[in-house]
Amino acid sequence: MTDIYSVSAPSNIAFLKYWGKKDPLLQWPANDSLSMTLNQLASRTTAYRHDTEDHRFQFQGEVLPRDHGSFHKVYKHLDYLSEICGFQEKLSLSSTNSFPTGAGIASSASGLAALTIAALACWTESGSFSELSEKGFSRESLAHFARMGSGSAGRSLFGGFVQWQAGTHADKQKIIGLYDANHWPLHDTVALFSHSEKSKSSTAAHADAWSSILFEPRVAGAPERMNAMLKAVHSQSIATLGPLLETEALEMHAVMMTTRPPQFYLTTEAVAFIAAFRRARQDGLFEAYFTIDAGPNVHIIHEASETSALTTWTAEHYPTLQLLQDRVGEGPRLERGLN
Ligand code: DP6
Repeated sequence: MTDIYSVSAPSNIAFLKYWGKKDPLLQWPANDSLSMTLNQLASRTTAYRHDTEDHRFQFQGEVLPRDHGSFHKVYKHLDYLSEICGFQEKLSLSSTNSFPTGAGIASSASGLAALTIAALACWTESGSFSELSEKGFSRESLAHFARMGSGSAGRSLFGGFVQWQAGTHADKQKIIGLYDANHWPLHDTVALFSHSEKSKSSTAAHADAWSSILFEPRVAGAPERMNAMLKAVHSQSIATLGPLLETEALEMHAVMMTTRPPQFYLTTEAVAFIAAFRRARQDGLFEAYFTIDAGPNVHIIHEASETSALTTWTAEHYPTLQLLQDRVGEGPRLERGLN
């Protein structure tokens, strides 16, 4: 029997987006970002020590080798962690997602957060976050390591509302848990327009951001938008936060659409849905606002009081549309058991 470490790490939805990097090797973002950690939409990863030549990684039950296209990030990150933290033992890891991978729900955020915690918990034989911290891996350092695997993963180390500050230098970056989940019980209802892998990974698309004429003005305007969003989250004002969320998401997509080469993550269905959704809001049917990541799925941010009106409207106008219901959550969990 060996110890097995199980981690459940949630995804997060960015209110102010991380888009474009000042330094891709050091994972230094062009601007600060702000997110809400989710609850149900999560990656679950288990790890145990495995006496073999290489790590073994299984995803949704299938063993994926090192050269497997979209999962090269996993092995690259394990190699990085092992080298930087000085752990030699090979690991056997198994991961599942509670949502479709690569469809604009940040699977790399939850996936790389879960992988980072599971690998470091296994190497240091830590069954809890306090044990990890005693062994030199504080929540902040775990967020740093997760961010090196995928930028948005760093924010999934904290529950509630989280800010990633770019700082004046790559090594001055900080990821901060601003408010716990109980500060403001916001919901995220995801309108699922695609289950398939996105056409271009966000890592590749980040690099093109600088070629858009809209990118530099976007980065220049980010601090002002951040301040306005922070005030809205602090005062729990959906009427203030909502319009900022929509402008922010549309602006990021405008940057994506004007890069060389241009990148369209939005589909005709998603755009038509957004237009109808805004009309319904104007008609007073509900108070809810959308945001969209690098994919066609539309995240609807709202308070609990709006859930019923929103689902009724969606069922009536989009009867076949799949909705994933989630809300703000408390962050990752770690457990030790026997294999
Ligand atoms: C649109 O974190 O996936 O979801 O650091 O290259 O792995 P890498 O990129 P990634 O980018 C996420 C972009 C986004 C916005 C956000 O989550 O802030």
